[in-house]
Amino acid sequence: MEDAHRFREEDMPRLLTVQDLVVEMPGRNIKILNGVSFSLDTGQTLGLVGESGCGKSMTCYAIGNMLPHGLAQTGGSVDLSSNATPSKAGKPKISMIFQDPTSSLNPVHTIGYYLESALHRHQGLKGSDARMEAMRLLERVGIDRVKSRLRSYPHQFSGGMNQRVMIAHALAAKPELLIADEPTTALDVTMQAQILHLLEELKAETGMALIIVSHDLGVIARLADEAAVMYCGKIVETAPVEDLLARPAHPYARALIDCMPSIDASDLEPPVPIPGSVPLLDCLPHGCYFHPRCSRASSQCTAQFPSSAIVGPAHQAACYHPVAA
Ligand SMILES: Nc1ncnc2c1ncn2[C@@H]1O[C@H](COP(=O)(O)OP(=O)(O)OP(=O)(O)O)[C@@H](O)[C@H]1O
Ligand code: SF4
Ligand SMILES: [Mg+2]
Repeated sequence: MEDAHRFREEDMPRLLTVQDLVVEMPGRNIKILNGVSFSLDTGQTLGLVGESGCGKSMTCYAIGNMLPHGLAQTGGSVDLSSNATPSKAGKPKISMIFQDPTSSLNPVHTIGYYLESALHRHQGLKGSDARMEAMRLLERVGIDRVKSRLRSYPHQFSGGMNQRVMIAHALAAKPELLIADEPTTALDVTMQAQILHLLEELKAETGMALIIVSHDLGVIARLADEAAVMYCGKIVETAPVEDLLARPAHPYARALIDCMPSIDASDLEPPVPIPGSVPLLDCLPHGCYFHPRCSRASSQCTAQFPSSAIVGPAHQAACYHPVAA
């Protein structure tokens, strides 16, 4: 019985499999994403971290098939496979929420219009049914006086309230995968804590998978099961999140952790900035892209980009000289 159960679990396709994904500016030979691979199961949360410009948002857009004009997927694959009730297209539904909620909402539409049209599109609800469900969703994300709020415009809401509206909008699609691209970066710390708490609750309630993008390793530590560290369009380390934070193997991941300011008064170590800056994608250094900034670099590092290797249980890093555990 146990074996049969194990067989079914192993046999189940993963919700999302990204394999060797390449996104380029066609004609300019600039790779925005260069061989990104990872996978995600139903109910799992992946945290994507890395400095600005490393390709976190483009990874999300490629998964959602919404790359901006001028960029194209030129290699690899993004496979989505539903283990729950398949949608009409046979693919699991994906919803996305973005960094700046206020500018992501259309200022000429009321919150009610925004939510009810999403409910019509995704669930076929109209009129009072759509209005009732919109109010229920607003209540679910912690907004009060929902009847009057439906007549409000985004400029009448705070950033935190608009982010809740975006989450309610995302939930209207009943997603199996929610992609949250820096959902708390534009919010103050108390709003940030509330939104993170809400995402945790929704994950537990709905069983949806989550990809959370953040500069903030604290956000990743709180929400993610697995973390992937990106640098210049590549994933350089993946690991269970506690393992990554406690025992980073890639010098870049180590450096990101060392940059984090601590609020612990007994921690007298000041944050250590990473020397240099992220190279431009049209003039990447030979070999490991991190070598000009890496204190462990050797001549081997300048010759060829290192392939990813196992450095611990479910822990991989692309580095010739990983940091010892
Ligand atoms: N529309 C576009 N056309 C061409 N290049 C773009 C476009 N949008 C982003 N890029 C480039 O793609 C690279 C990856 O950008 P991306 O937005 O994914 O970075 P990010 O890791 O999300 O950064 P941030 O933390 O600042 O949001 C960057 O070098 C960026 O300049
Ligand atoms: S491969 Fe070399 S340069 Fe790159 S991170 Fe590892 S030690 Fe540093
Ligand atoms: Mg981004």
